[in-house]
Amino acid sequence: MKVLIVFTHPNSNSFNHALLENVSSGLKQAGHEIKIKNLYEEGFNPVLDSDDLSKLHNGHTPERIAKEQKELLWAEGLVFIYPLWWFTPPAMLKGWFDVSFSNGVAFEYSDAGAKGLLKHKKALVLITAGASKDYFDKNDSLEISYRPLTDGTLGFCGVENVKHEIYYDVVNCTDEERAEILKQAHAYGVNF
Ligand SMILES: Cc1cc2nc3c(=O)[nH]c(=O)nc-3n(C[C@H](O)[C@H](O)[C@H](O)COP(=O)(O)O)c2cc1C
Repeated sequence: MKVLIVFTHPNSNSFNHALLENVSSGLKQAGHEIKIKNLYEEGFNPVLDSDDLSKLHNGHTPERIAKEQKELLWAEGLVFIYPLWWFTPPAMLKGWFDVSFSNGVAFEYSDAGAKGLLKHKKALVLITAGASKDYFDKNDSLEISYRPLTDGTLGFCGVENVKHEIYYDVVNCTDEERAEILKQAHAYGVNF
């Protein structure tokens, strides 16, 4: 499968980056063709501004948006790796969806209502969190951390097979626990 990995973390020595390396090697091991989209490294501009919106509205796709959509539509599978920031993806990734998932490309409206247009066979969403599982359970906040992306964006746009995993407490966990998470991430790649 052609797999686009959208990676969102500013540091190349982060735990998230180690996740990226492990998922990528797993995917390659399984024979998938991968492209890594490192949003910070690319200097991606996450702001969908008034000029972009008016061009889109008039049926003209700005070049920078067309470039993102070409990469999105190249892929048959999608992987997202990011840290949870204020119970949401970093603004950089949120902006990538704003910019790339345009009306007419990712979804459309008809008399029958909204319809997803994306044909990706599957998506994998790996999220790291600083808080513990106990904290999430107590605050009833687990679903709000992933559903806006897994259901509200990917599901809405037609990607039905979406797996997600949240790795809790990654700031305080032991080296052994980190190694176990990385092993699991590699396996997610192999079994994608
Ligand atoms: C701006 C910011 C907001 C954060 N918000 C949350 C949060 O809402 N919930 C949470 O569990 N952790 C939160 N964290 C902690 C990060 O999720 C954690 O540092 C990250 O997952 C660790 O991975 P890394 O070492 O690769 O950065 C936040 C961190 C930052 C910098």
